Amino acid sequence: MIETMNHDQASGLRRLTTPRRTKVITVTGGKGGVGKTNVTLGMAVSMAKQGKKVMVLDADLGLANVDVLLGLRVGRNLSHVMAGECDLEDILVEGPYGLKIIPASSGTKGMTDLSPAQHAGLIRAFGMLDEDVDVLLVDTAAGISDMVLSFSRAAQDVVVVVCDEPTSITDAYALIKILSREHGVSRFKVVANMVRSYREGRDLFTKLTRVTERFLNANLELVACVPLDERVRQSVKKQKVVVDAFPQAPSALALKALANKALCWPLPRTPSGHLEFFVERLLIRDQAAGE
Ligand SMILES: Nc1ncnc2c1ncn2[C@@H]1O[C@H](COP(=O)(O)OP(=O)(O)OP(=O)(O)O)[C@@H](O)[C@H]1O
Ligand SMILES: [Mg+2]
Repeated sequence: MIETMNHDQASGLRRLTTPRRTKVITVTGGKGGVGKTNVTLGMAVSMAKQGKKVMVLDADLGLANVDVLLGLRVGRNLSHVMAGECDLEDILVEGPYGLKIIPASSGTKGMTDLSPAQHAGLIRAFGMLDEDVDVLLVDTAAGISDMVLSFSRAAQDVVVVVCDEPTSITDAYALIKILSREHGVSRFKVVANMVRSYREGRDLFTKLTRVTERFLNANLELVACVPLDERVRQSVKKQKVVVDAFPQAPSALALKALANKALCWPLPRTPSGHLEFFVERLLIRDQAAGE
């Protein structure tokens, strides 16, 4: 009987015996252009450089996508997997240091319209990746769409990127408000991006916590202050990330430190840490929201 074990059963058995869990981190921020994609990729490449198996889910429907920033050519995306036209493995794009990108960009509007068979297929697809991925980083689009909310509540950690602009603070506040009041997310890791000094980053964080502490039941932690750094723009032009193009630049050092910190964020000990449960959470709650 053992000889006839199929791939699903084999991977299920491996999951029972392997202690590996995938850490899922969603990077968001409310406002556009605050640096979400740069923070996501900076963390991802830093982790990959250290030999971690890292995957980036590009859930950004905007123009400055992960593939564009890395100069990668993307064909099919997650919507083709959902439609049953190909497997998850077929759409993965290889980035630097073995980093893998899951393009979800065009056409992947939400997960509400899937049939039960498509749900099951998607869960199985991610489940099979489980033992091969240490960290899954999700780069989200600007705004507070269903997609952004789904990925935030399904992740173990939510990173909120802010910069020193009034609209960034108000948009981040609006996002934290809806996630904490309506989606059960209570912990947020804040990255102050494009700051001119550590002090400016702290002040920015204080501005945000002043309102969240007063009005919301949310716990915020300042996890990084990333300096405003011309090298970031220069790297974007080279279609590289700053941690790769200029590893000693101040922004690169801050992103690397953030990546190291994130690797130490605790993982859930329960089986719910597995990727397939992440996808299940995405789908189940989305369905509920769509009713
Ligand atoms: N620390 C930084 N220093 C200087 N420039 C930065 C920094 N972080 C990001 N930028 C620049 O800001 C711009 C927006 O960055 P990015 O694309 O990462 O933002 P985003 O939040 O992902 O935007 P979108 O909402 O459009 O997806 C880019 O041109 C990038 O080069
Ligand atoms: Mg982006």
